[in-house]
Amino acid sequence: MSLHLGDEAPNFTSDTTDGEINFHEWKSGSWAVFFSHPADFTPVCTTELGRVAGLKSEFDARNTKAIALSVDPIEEHRAWAPDIGEVTGNTLNFPIIADADKTVSHLYDMIHPGEGDTSTVRSVFIIDQDNKIRLSLTYPKSTGRNFDEILRVLDSLQLTSAHELATPADWEPGDRVIIPPGMSTPDAEDIFTNVEEVTPYLRYADAPTS
Ligand code: BEZ
Repeated sequence: MSLHLGDEAPNFTSDTTDGEINFHEWKSGSWAVFFSHPADFTPVCTTELGRVAGLKSEFDARNTKAIALSVDPIEEHRAWAPDIGEVTGNTLNFPIIADADKTVSHLYDMIHPGEGDTSTVRSVFIIDQDNKIRLSLTYPKSTGRNFDEILRVLDSLQLTSAHELATPADWEPGDRVIIPPGMSTPDAEDIFTNVEEVTPYLRYADAPTS
């Protein structure tokens, strides 16, 4: 199934390291970072899950819950989990879905035959409070993800959900923002401070503070 930005994130009920979870009920009222990895007891995946565990306070600050998935069975997840803490210093603090029958992997198109058809690639979905898919990324198995980028996109998505604006290349929180093309410069000056017109279509302003 092909999922697009703006689609409702498909619901599912699965066994996880935190017990059985109904996805929509579990994330109710929160944003979610839902990411797949190829397999338990593998080096890149161990670094990734440890990194996400270490970012818990950052996710909490953004009202966001993390949840991982691989097609390994629950016993394998439980056996691997202590390694994540020992190797990375960050104890696992979010659920890993055991998708042994690949139901959820297929629902989210996480198995790509070009990367081997028996396990998931490194998919990332950012899903908002209303269960809408707001970002999807797909990394190959050989490349560990940059979770600072995931936090950066979350910040941009949450800011652009609250205000009519866009964020430029390499934007970080606190940087100036972009006036969207559909808004006139005089209208922008009523809403934003320090509006700068670089070209008629490229206008910067200070980011709103509330
Ligand atoms: C890893 O997580 O280290 C890994 C998994 C599958 C293929 C390559 C690397």
